[in-house]
Amino acid sequence: MPSSRIFSGIQPSGELHIGNYLGAVKNWVALQRQYESFFCIVDYHAITVPYEPEDLRRRTRDMAVSLIASGIDPSACTLFVQSAVPEHTELAWIFNTVTPLGELERQTQFKDKSGRQESIFAGILNYPVLQAADILLYKADLVPVGEDQVQHLELSREIARRWNTRFSPGYAAHAADDESKRSEATSPETGMPAGPSADAAEVQGFFPEPKPLLTPTRRIMGLDGKAKMSKSLGNTVGLVEDPKDVWEKLRPAVTDPARVRRTDPGTPEVCNIYQLHKAFSPPETVDHVAVQCRTAGWGCIECKKVLFENMESELAPIRARVSDIRADEPKLDRILADGAEKARSVARATIAEAKVLMGLA
Ligand code: TRP
Repeated sequence: MPSSRIFSGIQPSGELHIGNYLGAVKNWVALQRQYESFFCIVDYHAITVPYEPEDLRRRTRDMAVSLIASGIDPSACTLFVQSAVPEHTELAWIFNTVTPLGELERQTQFKDKSGRQESIFAGILNYPVLQAADILLYKADLVPVGEDQVQHLELSREIARRWNTRFSPGYAAHAADDESKRSEATSPETGMPAGPSADAAEVQGFFPEPKPLLTPTRRIMGLDGKAKMSKSLGNTVGLVEDPKDVWEKLRPAVTDPARVRRTDPGTPEVCNIYQLHKAFSPPETVDHVAVQCRTAGWGCIECKKVLFENMESELAPIRARVSDIRADEPKLDRILADGAEKARSVARATIAEAKVLMGLA
């Protein structure tokens, strides 16, 4: 089996917080040498919501700094900014012509976002088409993402199938043949052929159907314990935040509500601090924490102090690397320019072939 290619994208939201670090980036770091990897800061996606140009420029750069400081190694993978590779938007346009409008309107993220805004721009609707283009431009077959992106990836597969059915040599005939043998493979929503299943497909389409590689860490809740950690909710801990500020946030953070008094025993599984221990503390400590919580051996503050120490051992080196990277801006420019050039050489080839198959070249 040929080694798989992975692609993933992250919004240029500025510096990472521990939610997106644990939920996505730490996983990328673990995968980057296992697969041929493309990691992209998706600034064209970011402009589908209102923004300030100077702010976007800064957030894009801060994200690049955070990623490298977290261990994304530009010599092991391809790290780049989406808008530096114009083929992304070129393929997105092509995909717009094979994407059913109904599928876009059905996306939950579109429904959420469009419900919250007064005027809606077409970019919000077409957001997942650009995402499909991101992935398929590199013919990536695996996409490390969290649960919230699964629906977007389903649509990416649908787009790949539709394009392949129309333009990939031999694919449509094979799909039809496959269909007659497996008539149950019809999409319940559309009543359209769902296309050949991966195991039945002997004829490879020009574009592979990308599958999610779900992040092992469950989603990280904010320190209010109410919702997913997210910048817009203001419940984050920054990856490069000053340790004093981190402790100021950690100290009052919500724990198991059953532990009202110091002597009340708790249930670690319902406590957000315990979840953070699982992400940052060594396994022996995690076990010890669970026992101390259940027996009220420790108070929550003691438990948080231990967590804080373990967070510090992981985050202090990242902070140090951030300072180093910031001290050499021209080097960062070179890294991103090299990444874009590496990405472009793959992207150009895909677009050139696709255009020939479509009668555009
Ligand atoms: N939509 C993704 C998010 O908000 C970001 C993204 C853009 C992405 N293009 C992608 C993720 C391609 C995976 C693959 O998190």
